[in-house]
Amino acid sequence: MSEQFLTEKLLQVEAVCVLYPRFADLMEQMETCRKESALANEAMSMLIYGQSGAGKTTLINQYLKNFPRKTTSDGSIVPVFFASLPSKVTIKGCAKTLLKALGAPNASHGDEIDMTSRLVTLIKNCGVELIILDEFQHLLQRASAKGAQQASDWLKELMNKTKVPLVLVGMPECTKLLEAHEQLDRRFIVVEELASFNYVRDASEYRKFLKAVQQALPFPQQDGALHLYDPLCAKRIYVASRGSPGRTMRLIREAAKMAVKKDLAILAETHLATTYTKYIARLSKLPKSPWELSENELDKLVIKVAG
Ligand SMILES: Nc1ncnc2c1ncn2[C@@H]1O[C@H](COP(=O)(O)OP(=O)(O)O)[C@@H](O)[C@H]1O
Ligand SMILES: [Mg+2]
Repeated sequence: MSEQFLTEKLLQVEAVCVLYPRFADLMEQMETCRKESALANEAMSMLIYGQSGAGKTTLINQYLKNFPRKTTSDGSIVPVFFASLPSKVTIKGCAKTLLKALGAPNASHGDEIDMTSRLVTLIKNCGVELIILDEFQHLLQRASAKGAQQASDWLKELMNKTKVPLVLVGMPECTKLLEAHEQLDRRFIVVEELASFNYVRDASEYRKFLKAVQQALPFPQQDGALHLYDPLCAKRIYVASRGSPGRTMRLIREAAKMAVKKDLAILAETHLATTYTKYIARLSKLPKSPWELSENELDKLVIKVAG
């Protein structure tokens, strides 16, 4: 296999992204906030929360693909504007991050008030219709009650002055900010969790996800090949990953890369088992590999993991 062919296949493995219904639905709700806020008197914002590995950043990147930045003679047009907040950021730091992400010259200059006012102007000038902030919990890390109040006031001010809706994305603790601040909560019409898969509640959702992943991998769909979505295999992957999209994809991607590098035309169960032992076992806290369990033992674990 030529180097270039190998690289292409590895890139194909990395690029797999499945727009499963719950995921696609969140993208649609972001789109609704963008479109309908422009018609409403008040911006309609959204909070998406979920554990690490739930697919939040992937969701944002997938949505952003529909909104490339344009440069015109009058400056940049940025219909959807995205920034990821650094750890323990202050309000001033947040304003600076947003200014930088919008391409402002001298983003660090001035105090909080000055930065916020430049940010509001820039948001208007760039034709921003939606602002997405990832890792939003970082703005709440320092927060005493007073800090949280200030963060809430600042967000309200930003929404009032720009009329642009926010999509805040972060860890589950982000919901606390809305719970504690009613005036802010009112502006967040959608608060949704991007939860892990649950094989007991909806086995078919997980199996359909695995089927879509399999179809996107660089292996021909041939007879006798392993099917990731066969119940036994699906349950093993589910238990190994605890239903986390991140761990599910880590397991499958590493196994697929192993098969690609060996120039094999199929992904086999042994690749998954080896990858589990190498990369996932340490994190999964299972007494035994799911690839060494009987189906009966596996079924019990599925119920336990699903909680
Ligand atoms: N819908 C999806 N299709 C394919 N891979 C996904 C999907 N959702 C998440 N992943 C994978 O899971 C991993 C973790 O996702 P990420 O978006 O970084 O999670 P989070 O931001 O919630 O911590 C990434 O490698 C990503 O490619
Ligand atoms: Mg993320």
